[in-house]
Amino acid sequence: MNSIRKSWTLDPIAQNKIELMSNNQPSFYVTTPIFYVNDAPHIGHAYTEVAADVLARWHRARGEDSFLLTGTDEHGEKVLRTAQANNVSAQDWTDKLVHDAWLPLLETIDIDNQDFIRTTEARHEQNVQKFMQKLYDTGFIYQGSFKGAYCVGCEEYKNKGDLVDGTGEYEGQEVCAIHSKPVEQLEENNYFFKLSQFQQPLLDFFEQNPNFIQPESARNEVVSFVSRGLDDLSISRSKEKFDWGIDIPWDDSHITYVWFDALLNYITAIGYGSDEDKFEKYWPATIQIVGKDILRFHAVIWPAMLMAADLTPPKQIFGHGWLLVGGEKMSKSKLTGIAPNQITDIFGSDAFRYYFMKAIAFGSDGSFSWEDLSARYQAELANGFGNLASRTIAMVNKYFEGNIPSPKEYSDADKNVIAVAQKAVSDSDLAMQQVAINEAIAAIWTLVDELNNYITVQEPWALAKDEANRDRLATVLFVACEGLRVLSVLLSPITPKATAKLWAALTEGKLGELSEQILQDAGVWGQLDKGIKVSELEVLFPRIETEK
Ligand code: ME8
Ligand code: MG
Repeated sequence: MNSIRKSWTLDPIAQNKIELMSNNQPSFYVTTPIFYVNDAPHIGHAYTEVAADVLARWHRARGEDSFLLTGTDEHGEKVLRTAQANNVSAQDWTDKLVHDAWLPLLETIDIDNQDFIRTTEARHEQNVQKFMQKLYDTGFIYQGSFKGAYCVGCEEYKNKGDLVDGTGEYEGQEVCAIHSKPVEQLEENNYFFKLSQFQQPLLDFFEQNPNFIQPESARNEVVSFVSRGLDDLSISRSKEKFDWGIDIPWDDSHITYVWFDALLNYITAIGYGSDEDKFEKYWPATIQIVGKDILRFHAVIWPAMLMAADLTPPKQIFGHGWLLVGGEKMSKSKLTGIAPNQITDIFGSDAFRYYFMKAIAFGSDGSFSWEDLSARYQAELANGFGNLASRTIAMVNKYFEGNIPSPKEYSDADKNVIAVAQKAVSDSDLAMQQVAINEAIAAIWTLVDELNNYITVQEPWALAKDEANRDRLATVLFVACEGLRVLSVLLSPITPKATAKLWAALTEGKLGELSEQILQDAGVWGQLDKGIKVSELEVLFPRIETEK
């Protein structure tokens, strides 16, 4: 009764035609996981948000129609139990957490998202039901009986191999390897999704789309997992146990399994079932960013669900690494979370964004430490970039009454700066296309370092002592200002606040808004040669007094 399409890969000619036909900006659709509202966010959640936001802003700066989606996962037993423990209804609890903690997070770390979806919204619930009904009608869902273990912390059915022997108060019991807490034994009549039918289609899909799962280590793990075979998946829970979820449309004695509900946010938010034009415009997503803890849900169950509904899987699932505390994943349940504003209150949102994107290779685990953050803030942001900007602008004020001088003849040293700037543009752009965010920032930093070195060697303050060197001084300060212009554009997705200030001080509005600059053109040299008067620049990264 059900049939699975053979291939989800568009041939290059068809792909090209679609892009030519639409004749407008290519779309870049990026998502974060939707987070459980059992507690307030910590820097692990903020890390995912920042990575997705940096990519979204970068692609927007390339002139693409960039759409960043984030949101909250509000159903399921874990959230319900937290609400009960706090003596409020589940809806009141989620409303409160979303408004008091999850939406404010976006301000705290300066996220420019285009939408925020909550799974309790009607636009989500109604279209989840449409999707479920479609899979039921086409025979991908059947009724069966489930017997096995379930971890509420993971909201996941567990196999024997996922459990370990408990210690301490759970001595003698089997516990979830992730949460170290006992699992529940379930025995229910549930609805099942025929996930087992998708083993071969998934393996074929992974092979035809080698970039679908990134990084490579994540891809290998998923391929070997699927190669071992897939079981059908229970996708409902009986309301006799609890009822905080979306009703199964053909049987209101059951609610939808929270992960089946949650994964669909990525399409309900962009109009699946309600706004076909918008859906066509953004689906399939360009990249879906998740932590590696939830890679299998996204790289196995999710594409299988989409295939069952005859929809194309996303172009890429990127599983990033974990922020570690004492060698373990930072987590809400183990109370090792650091609140993002503990960092931003001291260092600001730009430093938060820069630090996590630069210090950790995207895809690998990384340990956060206050010492490393402070050291990088001081060396790279305050002394490296901030000081470069302030002393350059100060010299234009001092030696040319604020007027950016026109360049005269370029020396080899000047030409080298131009070459480094242009290479920084192309290298960082290439790295961002490959989601190597830290490498992109390193490529941009070659220009910060080059400019600092250039100023040290050219000694504009020494040139200023002799009127005979006036032309040379003009050229040196012009080159430095142009370098700052390039840096403003390249760093705007990473440190939006500092670059907005620098852009305003440097361009007098004569080059349009920073957000209107086309990233690929940032290296076109000489754009500031327009008789521009710079304004005062406040300190971009002020000294932080650390109490010892
Ligand atoms: O899993 N390091 O939500 P969740 C890095 N609702 N990232 C971390 C992290 C850490 N220590 N801790 C958390 C869920 N994260 C589901 C998702 S999606 C359809 C449903 C980030 O609140 C990382 O992105 O447990 C991880 O995948 C996510 O938070 C898990 O958030
Ligand atoms: Mg979790």
